[in-house]
Amino acid sequence: MKAIVTYEDDDEPVVIEKPRPVPADGEALVRTLRVGVDGTDHEVIAGGHGETPDGDDHMVLGHEAVGVVADANDTPFEEGDVVVPTVRRPPNGANEYFARGEPDMAPDGRYHERGIVGAHGFMAEYFTSPAEFLVEVPPEIAEWGFLVEPASITEKAIEHAYASRSAFHWGPESALVLGNGSLGLLTLAMLDDGFDRRYCLGRRERPDPTIDLIESIGATYVDSNETAVDEVPDAHEPMDFVYEATGYAPHAFETIEALAPNGVGALLGVPGDWSFEVDGGRLHREFVLHNKALVGSVNSGYEHFEAAVDSIAALEESFLEDLVTGIHGLDEFEAAFADDDTTIKTAVEFVAYEER
Ligand code: NAP
Ligand code: BGC
Ligand code: ZN
Repeated sequence: MKAIVTYEDDDEPVVIEKPRPVPADGEALVRTLRVGVDGTDHEVIAGGHGETPDGDDHMVLGHEAVGVVADANDTPFEEGDVVVPTVRRPPNGANEYFARGEPDMAPDGRYHERGIVGAHGFMAEYFTSPAEFLVEVPPEIAEWGFLVEPASITEKAIEHAYASRSAFHWGPESALVLGNGSLGLLTLAMLDDGFDRRYCLGRRERPDPTIDLIESIGATYVDSNETAVDEVPDAHEPMDFVYEATGYAPHAFETIEALAPNGVGALLGVPGDWSFEVDGGRLHREFVLHNKALVGSVNSGYEHFEAAVDSIAALEESFLEDLVTGIHGLDEFEAAFADDDTTIKTAVEFVAYEER
């Protein structure tokens, strides 16, 4: 079968032949429909994040997959079921984080991430997975199933942000998403359920398709060249919730000043090491005197995937069609990894749902 891989000493993905995997006991064989590409894939290909599986010189890419069960292999699934795999797997048999159903809370060394850290991903014609890591998706949204994983990231971040505000009455109204990449834009649309006023910050000038998309769903675009994150309260309003999805490290600290009293910021970006000056006293005081919180959030668990299935199903088809700028077959898979201002979200298609 064909697989899209990244070699340790190369910075372009390539297609290679690999044997079709055989499901072990408790595993199903899944025929891959589509696999999405996000900023993490670009970081993995560039060598800035992740780790090739032990003993291999390459890793199959892809962690945002949707497929159809091809061999249920005595698992609770049936052939033809549409499924999305979760990302983390326990490295040497189960551990307490996986046993609790909280793989997303495991520290380094206690997890692999398929297509990212120490385990092959899903960008291949077939993959196998233990049934417990497969989430069923209604066939009606099979074509958008590759968006379930990124949406699950947001489900977790929102759950943790709300949990940090659960000790008092919190009635958030305003939300600011930092970053107009695919994660930021998907999150902005998901926040329609719960926030009266939504803003999204980027560094692009008009005309730009992401700005059009932001405005098409009734949100306000904030240009970071004109309004720094910590100036947002003066230019617009203080934010009850900030969702950082740029990976631009100063934004983490500027978020504290963008927040309204009692507000919470969720940090999702994964920057490299970066030293810069901040007014630590001022930020410390802001946290304390205004009851603010920041939560970091990575990965997601099974329940976040289940919630994400509902969230994707609830999004307008017209939004999804504008968000997804390209679905590319294996013959033109390079286009799915384009990194330009006209590309928002892409996926590689291994087989169309109707032709499976
Ligand atoms: P992406 O496509 O690279 O999006 C990042 C966006 O941020 C880009 O649109 C970029 O704008 C914008 N940006 C960067 N610096 C900016 C600045 N100074 N001012 C304004 N906008 C700025 O990546 P993604 O897939 O959406 O993911 C976003 C971040 O979340 C990445 O760091 C990724 O690693 C991380 N992530 C984390 C998790 C998790 O579990 N924590 C999950 C998924 C992704 P331009 O396009 O104009 O350059
Ligand atoms: C993936 C997560 C993963 C994170 C860090 C994200 O792009 O969606 O599942 O935990 O990267 O590697
Ligand atoms: Zn991702």
